Amino acid sequence: MLVQLTYASRTATILGPGDVKDILRSSARNNTAVGVTGALCLANGIFLQQLEGDRQAVNTVYHRILKDPRHKEPAILDLSEIVVRQFGSWSMGLIAATQENRQLFLKYSSTSEFDPYKMSPSTLRAFFSEVIQSARWLS
Ligand SMILES: Cc1cc2nc3c(=O)[nH]c(=O)nc-3n(C[C@H](O)[C@H](O)[C@H](O)COP(=O)(O)O)c2cc1C
Repeated sequence: MLVQLTYASRTATILGPGDVKDILRSSARNNTAVGVTGALCLANGIFLQQLEGDRQAVNTVYHRILKDPRHKEPAILDLSEIVVRQFGSWSMGLIAATQENRQLFLKYSSTSEFDPYKMSPSTLRAFFSEVIQSARWLS
């Protein structure tokens, strides 16, 4: 059964580009092996990640991520069954907080700061689906 899990967490330490690269490298290796795809946003000291794939595989990956000391205060924001993957070709795409996509982050926030902890499941889904459509500026 195909599911999508969306969670937020806060960075535990000041992360450098090396940390993010390391996370993406691990994700590419491990997620590809178990058929998990997704995207990771980092903005305002908050990670927002969407994982999709087989329910058991997504659970396993999520529980491994939870043990990572680089983040804290994890909260599951949405867990839904999906019919089709959104991030079919991304083992883990990165959506960083650049000047260009700041507008997009704020478009879906009820506050002046990007705060996914306050976003509803439907807002999160709309956010990620727009992120994919705008994928050109993500690389
Ligand atoms: C916010 C965040 C997201 C992460 N996402 C993934 C992921 O999608 N897949 C993954 O395998 N590891 C992810 N990691 C890294 C894992 O916590 C862990 O370090 C890694 O899976 C260890 O695998 P390795 O020993 O093969 O590098 C993430 C870490 C953080 C802090």
